[in-house]
Amino acid sequence: MSRISDKLLSRDEHVCPWWLAWTFDNPLRKWLHDPRQILGAHVREGMTVADIGCGMGYFSVAMAKMVGPAGKVLAVDLQQMMLDLCRKRAYRAGVSRQIETVLCAADDIALSQPVDFILAFWMVHEVKDIPRFFGQVASVLKTGGKMLYAEPRMHVTRNRFEEILGHARSAGFTVAGGPKVGMSRAKILVKG
Ligand SMILES: C[S@@+](CC[C@H](N)C(=O)[O-])C[C@H]1O[C@@H](n2cnc3c(N)ncnc32)[C@H](O)[C@@H]1O
Repeated sequence: MSRISDKLLSRDEHVCPWWLAWTFDNPLRKWLHDPRQILGAHVREGMTVADIGCGMGYFSVAMAKMVGPAGKVLAVDLQQMMLDLCRKRAYRAGVSRQIETVLCAADDIALSQPVDFILAFWMVHEVKDIPRFFGQVASVLKTGGKMLYAEPRMHVTRNRFEEILGHARSAGFTVAGGPKVGMSRAKILVKG
């Protein structure tokens, strides 16, 4: 494969660069991924939530509106550029105060405070050590707390998705219903 197609199509060990994120995170996205429809049943006012692998903050900003001034969104990513774009977006949307950006490392989500809800949208397939990732996520999610885990169908096969759910179970999660999310495989995980 050429280097460009390698970057665009690789299914493994590929971290989505900021310039590629514009291909799906653009003004048309709200028709495919309506944050209130996807997250409305789980995110409530006053919650502390984490958007891990937040990218340019599409869901972080939406969740900041849902948790309101009494809540907080921890927007976590390993690319500073993504966090900068997320901050700009939050500022434009008037929710800067509710969003704290967190620069993490590939093997460390860099969170320690307990959270009520976690979103991992289209990012886990980019993580190198997935069992370790779920272990860290489980350690900060409150008992009974939920996590929405979603992957892009074009990058993650059904079998691979099931395999990753196995890692989530090993970390102590129960796999609950799967919300319908455009172009995605998605499950709600509950920390038991
Ligand atoms: C395809 S983008 C999705 C962004 C965002 N969740 C969304 O739906 O718009 C994947 C993001 O995950 C981030 N990422 C990849 N591996 C990560 C890791 N180990 N920890 C935190 N973020 C990671 C990438 O930097 C990128 O911003």
